Amino acid sequence: MTVVDLSLAVPPESSHQLDQMLELLNPDERAHSTRFRRDEDRRTFITAHALTRLGLSRHHPGISPNEWTFKKGPWGRPEPTNPGIGELRANLSHTREMAAFVVADAVEVGVDVEYVTPDDWIYETIDTVLSTDECTSLLRLDEESRRERFFLYWTLKESYIKARGLGISLPLTKISFAGSNSEGVVLDIEPGVDDNPTGWQFALFHPSPTVRGAVAARTGELDLQSSWPTLR
Ligand SMILES: CC(C)(COP(=O)(O)OP(=O)(O)OC[C@H]1O[C@@H](n2cnc3c(N)ncnc32)[C@H](O)[C@@H]1OP(=O)(O)O)[C@@H](O)C(=O)NCCC(=O)NCCS
Repeated sequence: MTVVDLSLAVPPESSHQLDQMLELLNPDERAHSTRFRRDEDRRTFITAHALTRLGLSRHHPGISPNEWTFKKGPWGRPEPTNPGIGELRANLSHTREMAAFVVADAVEVGVDVEYVTPDDWIYETIDTVLSTDECTSLLRLDEESRRERFFLYWTLKESYIKARGLGISLPLTKISFAGSNSEGVVLDIEPGVDDNPTGWQFALFHPSPTVRGAVAARTGELDLQSSWPTLR
Protein backbone atom coordinates (compact mmCIF):
# COMPACT_ATOMS: atom_id res chain seq x y z
CA MET A 1 0.00 0.00 0.00
CA THR A 2 1.22 3.49 -0.84
CA VAL A 3 1.97 5.71 2.13
CA VAL A 4 1.26 9.41 1.91
CA ASP A 5 2.74 11.33 4.84
CA LEU A 6 0.96 14.50 5.87
CA SER A 7 2.52 16.91 8.38
CA LEU A 8 1.06 20.10 9.77
CA ALA A 9 2.57 22.96 11.73
CA VAL A 10 1.29 26.14 13.35
CA PRO A 11 3.77 29.04 12.92
CA PRO A 12 5.50 29.58 16.27
CA GLU A 13 5.08 32.82 18.21
CA SER A 14 8.60 32.50 19.63
CA SER A 15 11.28 34.21 17.54
CA HIS A 16 13.84 31.68 18.85
CA GLN A 17 11.86 28.78 17.35
CA LEU A 18 11.43 30.70 14.13
CA ASP A 19 15.17 31.36 13.95
CA GLN A 20 15.79 27.62 14.34
CA MET A 21 13.46 26.97 11.41
CA LEU A 22 15.13 29.71 9.37
CA GLU A 23 18.46 27.94 9.78
CA LEU A 24 17.07 24.96 7.85
CA LEU A 25 16.29 27.07 4.77
CA ASN A 26 18.61 27.79 1.85
CA PRO A 27 19.76 31.34 0.97
CA ASP A 28 17.00 31.82 -1.64
CA GLU A 29 14.28 30.81 0.81
CA ARG A 30 15.76 33.07 3.49
CA ALA A 31 15.88 35.98 1.05
CA HIS A 32 12.27 35.26 0.02
CA SER A 33 11.21 35.30 3.68
CA THR A 34 12.35 38.93 4.02
CA ARG A 35 10.01 40.12 1.24
CA PHE A 36 6.69 39.71 3.06
CA ARG A 37 4.98 42.88 4.22
CA ARG A 38 3.01 41.10 6.95
CA ASP A 39 4.96 39.36 9.69
CA GLU A 40 2.26 36.69 9.83
CA ASP A 41 2.98 35.74 6.18
CA ARG A 42 6.73 35.64 6.84
CA ARG A 43 6.27 33.28 9.80
CA THR A 44 3.97 31.00 7.82
CA PHE A 45 6.36 30.88 4.86
CA ILE A 46 9.34 29.99 7.08
CA THR A 47 7.28 27.35 8.91
CA ALA A 48 6.06 25.77 5.66
CA HIS A 49 9.53 25.52 4.16
CA ALA A 50 11.09 24.17 7.37
CA LEU A 51 8.24 21.65 7.61
CA THR A 52 8.94 20.62 4.01
CA ARG A 53 12.63 20.03 4.68
CA LEU A 54 11.95 18.15 7.93
CA GLY A 55 9.25 16.05 6.26
CA LEU A 56 11.53 15.17 3.32
CA SER A 57 14.33 14.15 5.71
CA ARG A 58 11.94 11.97 7.71
CA HIS A 59 11.15 10.23 4.43
CA HIS A 60 14.84 10.05 3.42
CA PRO A 61 16.82 10.05 6.71
CA GLY A 62 20.14 10.03 4.84
CA ILE A 63 19.59 13.60 3.68
CA SER A 64 19.67 16.43 6.25
CA PRO A 65 16.91 19.06 6.19
CA ASN A 66 19.24 21.79 4.92
CA GLU A 67 20.68 19.57 2.14
CA TRP A 68 17.49 19.39 0.06
CA THR A 69 17.66 20.99 -3.37
CA PHE A 70 14.71 21.89 -5.62
CA LYS A 71 13.96 22.94 -9.14
CA LYS A 72 10.70 24.46 -10.33
CA GLY A 73 8.46 22.52 -12.72
CA PRO A 74 6.93 24.24 -15.77
CA TRP A 75 4.00 25.59 -13.70
CA GLY A 76 6.08 26.61 -10.71
CA ARG A 77 5.88 23.55 -8.47
CA PRO A 78 9.18 23.00 -6.62
CA GLU A 79 10.44 19.43 -7.14
CA PRO A 80 13.19 17.85 -4.98
CA THR A 81 16.28 17.07 -7.08
CA ASN A 82 18.70 15.29 -4.70
CA PRO A 83 20.32 12.17 -6.22
CA GLY A 84 19.00 8.76 -5.11
CA ILE A 85 15.50 9.85 -4.09
CA GLY A 86 13.69 8.01 -6.89
CA GLU A 87 10.31 9.37 -7.95
CA LEU A 88 9.70 11.35 -4.79
CA ARG A 89 6.61 13.57 -4.91
CA ALA A 90 5.95 16.35 -2.42
CA ASN A 91 3.80 19.42 -1.99
CA LEU A 92 3.33 22.18 0.56
CA SER A 93 0.61 24.66 1.39
CA HIS A 94 0.42 27.65 3.69
CA THR A 95 -2.41 29.78 4.94
CA ARG A 96 -3.04 32.03 7.92
CA GLU A 97 -2.13 30.05 11.07
CA MET A 98 -1.17 26.78 9.36
CA ALA A 99 1.36 25.08 7.10
CA ALA A 100 0.93 21.61 5.58
CA PHE A 101 3.23 19.24 3.71
CA VAL A 102 2.71 15.89 1.95
CA VAL A 103 5.23 13.43 0.57
CA ALA A 104 4.97 10.04 -1.14
CA ASP A 105 7.00 7.78 -3.42
CA ALA A 106 5.99 7.58 -7.09
CA VAL A 107 2.48 8.91 -6.50
CA GLU A 108 1.19 12.33 -7.52
CA VAL A 109 0.22 14.15 -4.32
CA GLY A 110 -1.14 17.60 -3.51
CA VAL A 111 -2.21 19.39 -0.37
CA ASP A 112 -4.14 22.55 0.38
CA VAL A 113 -4.96 24.37 3.59
CA GLU A 114 -7.24 27.39 3.68
CA TYR A 115 -8.23 29.78 6.42
CA VAL A 116 -12.03 29.96 6.63
CA THR A 117 -12.54 33.65 6.15
CA PRO A 118 -15.77 35.22 7.40
CA ASP A 119 -15.77 37.57 4.36
CA ASP A 120 -18.43 37.34 1.67
CA TRP A 121 -16.11 37.81 -1.33
CA ILE A 122 -16.01 34.03 -1.61
CA TYR A 123 -19.53 34.02 -3.06
CA GLU A 124 -18.45 36.39 -5.83
CA THR A 125 -16.04 33.73 -7.07
CA ILE A 126 -18.31 30.70 -7.18
CA ASP A 127 -19.14 30.98 -10.91
CA THR A 128 -15.47 30.91 -11.81
CA VAL A 129 -14.39 28.24 -9.32
CA LEU A 130 -17.24 25.73 -8.88
CA SER A 131 -18.89 23.37 -11.38
CA THR A 132 -22.61 23.69 -12.13
CA ASP A 133 -23.42 20.73 -9.84
CA GLU A 134 -21.29 22.15 -7.03
CA CYS A 135 -22.99 25.57 -7.33
CA THR A 136 -26.41 23.92 -7.18
CA SER A 137 -25.46 21.92 -4.06
CA LEU A 138 -23.92 24.95 -2.36
CA LEU A 139 -26.84 27.28 -2.98
CA ARG A 140 -29.25 24.79 -1.36
CA LEU A 141 -27.45 25.15 1.99
CA ASP A 142 -27.95 27.61 4.83
CA GLU A 143 -25.34 30.36 5.33
CA GLU A 144 -23.08 28.51 7.78
CA SER A 145 -23.08 25.22 5.87
CA ARG A 146 -22.58 27.10 2.62
CA ARG A 147 -19.36 28.70 3.78
CA GLU A 148 -18.12 25.35 5.11
CA ARG A 149 -19.00 23.66 1.80
CA PHE A 150 -17.28 26.37 -0.22
CA PHE A 151 -14.00 25.77 1.60
CA LEU A 152 -14.43 22.03 1.26
CA TYR A 153 -14.75 22.31 -2.54
CA TRP A 154 -11.95 24.85 -2.64
CA THR A 155 -9.44 22.69 -0.73
CA LEU A 156 -10.36 19.56 -2.70
CA LYS A 157 -9.90 21.40 -6.01
CA GLU A 158 -6.65 22.98 -4.95
CA SER A 159 -5.28 19.66 -3.65
CA TYR A 160 -6.11 18.09 -7.02
CA ILE A 161 -4.65 20.85 -9.19
CA LYS A 162 -1.58 20.98 -6.98
CA ALA A 163 -1.11 17.22 -7.30
CA ARG A 164 -1.29 17.63 -11.08
CA GLY A 165 1.27 20.46 -10.85
CA LEU A 166 -0.51 22.39 -13.60
CA GLY A 167 -1.73 25.32 -11.48
CA ILE A 168 -4.56 27.46 -12.77
CA SER A 169 -4.05 26.24 -16.33
CA LEU A 170 -6.68 23.64 -15.34
CA PRO A 171 -10.29 24.85 -15.77
CA LEU A 172 -11.62 24.78 -12.19
CA THR A 173 -15.30 24.68 -13.18
CA LYS A 174 -14.75 21.40 -15.07
CA ILE A 175 -13.39 19.64 -11.99
CA SER A 176 -16.26 18.58 -9.76
CA PHE A 177 -16.56 16.84 -6.39
CA ALA A 178 -19.41 14.84 -4.90
CA GLY A 179 -19.54 12.04 -2.36
CA SER A 180 -20.93 10.63 0.84
CA ASN A 181 -19.87 8.70 3.92
CA SER A 182 -20.29 5.38 2.15
CA GLU A 183 -18.52 6.17 -1.12
CA GLY A 184 -15.97 8.82 -0.02
CA VAL A 185 -15.15 11.81 -2.16
CA VAL A 186 -15.77 11.23 -5.87
CA LEU A 187 -14.00 13.25 -8.54
CA ASP A 188 -15.76 14.00 -11.82
CA ILE A 189 -13.91 15.55 -14.73
CA GLU A 190 -15.60 17.16 -17.73
CA PRO A 191 -14.14 17.27 -21.25
CA GLY A 192 -11.46 19.94 -21.31
CA VAL A 193 -9.45 18.42 -18.46
CA ASP A 194 -7.05 15.78 -19.73
CA ASP A 195 -7.16 13.16 -16.98
CA ASN A 196 -8.83 9.95 -15.84
CA PRO A 197 -10.71 10.55 -12.56
CA THR A 198 -10.52 6.93 -11.40
CA GLY A 199 -7.67 6.11 -9.07
CA TRP A 200 -7.68 9.44 -7.24
CA GLN A 201 -8.15 9.39 -3.48
CA PHE A 202 -8.88 12.40 -1.28
CA ALA A 203 -8.63 12.99 2.45
CA LEU A 204 -10.13 15.93 4.29
CA PHE A 205 -8.78 17.29 7.53
CA HIS A 206 -9.89 19.95 9.97
CA PRO A 207 -6.76 20.91 11.91
CA SER A 208 -8.18 23.89 13.82
CA PRO A 209 -11.49 25.71 14.21
CA THR A 210 -10.49 28.14 11.43
CA VAL A 211 -8.51 26.01 8.97
CA ARG A 212 -9.67 23.35 6.52
CA GLY A 213 -7.47 21.08 4.44
CA ALA A 214 -7.46 18.38 1.77
CA VAL A 215 -4.95 15.91 0.36
CA ALA A 216 -5.15 14.41 -3.13
CA ALA A 217 -3.22 11.30 -4.19
CA ARG A 218 -3.36 9.40 -7.47
CA THR A 219 -3.39 5.86 -6.22
CA GLY A 220 -6.07 3.21 -6.19
CA GLU A 221 -4.35 1.37 -3.34
CA LEU A 222 -4.55 3.98 -0.66
CA ASP A 223 -7.28 3.96 1.96
CA LEU A 224 -7.43 7.57 3.08
CA GLN A 225 -11.04 7.55 4.14
CA SER A 226 -11.96 8.64 7.60
CA SER A 227 -15.19 10.56 7.95
CA TRP A 228 -16.71 12.12 4.86
CA PRO A 229 -19.41 14.74 4.64
CA THR A 230 -22.20 14.19 2.13
CA LEU A 231 -21.55 16.55 -0.75
CA ARG A 232 -24.98 16.55 -2.35
C1 LIG B 1 0.20 28.13 -7.60
C2 LIG B 1 -0.91 27.59 -6.73
C3 LIG B 1 -0.52 26.23 -6.40
C4 LIG B 1 -1.00 28.42 -5.45
O1 LIG B 1 -1.87 27.88 -4.52
P1 LIG B 1 -2.28 28.67 -3.21
O2 LIG B 1 -3.52 28.04 -2.66
O3 LIG B 1 -2.31 30.12 -3.46
O4 LIG B 1 -1.08 28.45 -2.21
P2 LIG B 1 -0.64 27.22 -1.31
O5 LIG B 1 -0.11 27.79 -0.08
O6 LIG B 1 -1.67 26.14 -1.18
O7 LIG B 1 0.55 26.57 -2.17
C5 LIG B 1 1.67 27.31 -2.47
C6 LIG B 1 2.82 26.35 -2.66
O8 LIG B 1 2.52 25.38 -3.67
C7 LIG B 1 3.71 25.09 -4.40
N1 LIG B 1 3.42 25.33 -5.83
C8 LIG B 1 3.76 26.39 -6.61
N2 LIG B 1 3.30 26.17 -7.87
C9 LIG B 1 2.68 24.98 -7.86
C10 LIG B 1 2.01 24.20 -8.86
N3 LIG B 1 1.91 24.60 -10.11
N4 LIG B 1 1.48 23.00 -8.49
C11 LIG B 1 1.59 22.56 -7.23
N5 LIG B 1 2.21 23.26 -6.23
C12 LIG B 1 2.74 24.43 -6.56
C13 LIG B 1 4.82 25.98 -3.86
O9 LIG B 1 5.59 25.20 -2.96
C14 LIG B 1 4.05 27.06 -3.13
O10 LIG B 1 4.68 27.53 -1.97
P3 LIG B 1 5.96 28.51 -2.03
O11 LIG B 1 5.64 29.57 -3.03
O12 LIG B 1 6.10 29.02 -0.63
O13 LIG B 1 7.09 27.61 -2.46
C15 LIG B 1 -2.15 27.55 -7.61
O14 LIG B 1 -2.90 26.41 -7.30
C16 LIG B 1 -3.02 28.71 -7.57
O15 LIG B 1 -2.67 29.78 -8.05
N6 LIG B 1 -4.18 28.55 -7.04
C17 LIG B 1 -5.20 29.55 -6.93
C18 LIG B 1 -6.25 29.23 -7.94
C19 LIG B 1 -7.65 29.55 -7.53
O16 LIG B 1 -8.21 30.52 -7.93
N7 LIG B 1 -8.24 28.67 -6.73
C20 LIG B 1 -9.58 28.84 -6.30
C21 LIG B 1 -10.08 27.66 -5.52
S1 LIG B 1 -10.00 26.14 -6.36
